[in-house]
Amino acid sequence: MSQHPIFVIQQGSSAAPDTIYIQVTANGPYKVYGKPPLQQVFIEKNAAGQSGRYAAGKTFTSKPTMYLCRCGHSKNAPFCDGSHAKVEVDLAERASFEPLLNGSMEIDGPKQILTDNEHYCGFSRFCDNGKRVWNEVQLAGKEHEQLTEFMVHNCVAGRLLLWDKDSMQPIETPLDAEIWAVEDPGMGCSGPLMVRGGIRVESGDGTSYEIRNRQALCRCGMSSNKPFCDGSHASVKYQDGIE
Ligand code: FES
Repeated sequence: MSQHPIFVIQQGSSAAPDTIYIQVTANGPYKVYGKPPLQQVFIEKNAAGQSGRYAAGKTFTSKPTMYLCRCGHSKNAPFCDGSHAKVEVDLAERASFEPLLNGSMEIDGPKQILTDNEHYCGFSRFCDNGKRVWNEVQLAGKEHEQLTEFMVHNCVAGRLLLWDKDSMQPIETPLDAEIWAVEDPGMGCSGPLMVRGGIRVESGDGTSYEIRNRQALCRCGMSSNKPFCDGSHASVKYQDGIE
């Protein structure tokens, strides 16, 4: 029997323990339960100057209940400092509760299938780091398969998923439940909260979004697909102010 019979879990993902979940509060912060590890990570460049890997930054002390900023104005990021009450930011949720796969396009390769839902782009750019994942998946050979897998698995928002063509099973690496505050020095900005390892995100109205292994929550306040990141942090050059 499934651990979460009433929640939708994306194929290839496993739900984090019940105690770890995130509530999106109406016009307020993310309320995080269950003390998942919280840390800063930097998107580090590869030799070609493109997204190469995530490098660990500062580790924050997690609390049993903690409030994380989603308006982009906290002076104590990634935590909320109450600034949302003093600024004009539209924090209304607009994301669909539909499984991500429903809005995805499919690209067929010799051994793998790529699915891509562009509404969930977190702009981490591992998919376009000198090579393009949409081309790589269509090329035959181990080297291309491994590169495709690397690009997909680093996709911060889970926009990209990869499938084994023979078995039609997802190719996804299980992740521990944790939250990363992403920094993107290559773009000169801070990025989303990468929510890893099947942490359930509950909307302000109590409905749960699909549980996924990789997802990105907006913390700049500017996404048009809240609570999820849509890459707007890069155009507004969001700065979280964390040293
Ligand atoms: S953090 Fe990416 S759009 Fe807000």
